[in-house]
Amino acid sequence: MEGVFDRLPPGDFFKRFLLNSDSLKKSGDPYSNKIDHDYNSDYEHAFKILTSKDFSDMTEYLKIRHDN
Ligand code: HEM
Repeated sequence: MEGVFDRLPPGDFFKRFLLNSDSLKKSGDPYSNKIDHDYNSDYEHAFKILTSKDFSDMTEYLKIRHDN
């Protein structure tokens, strides 16, 4: 995960990817299809339980970790 926020596409990619990576891939999103291929994986992220607060907390946490 090192540097992940420099790699991820801007906007709501992180949220869409975690809530339903399969539908993101099927929509033709290039980055989610690329990492599936690069990691030789078809793992689906579908963490429906996550709230808006969870997303802002995770975004903040990962940015802090990355800055350190
Ligand atoms: C059981 C839990 C999890 C498993 C097994 C898992 C597995 C994977 C795998 C195999 C990939 C490679 C791409 C793909 O195939 O989709 C990936 C990418 C990714 N995952 Fe997860 N994941 C899990 C949970 C999470 C959680 C909780 C988060 C967020 C906090 C997360 C964020 C990401 C991100 C941002 C990427 C893209 C990384 C990159 O650009 O290199 N994942 N995950």
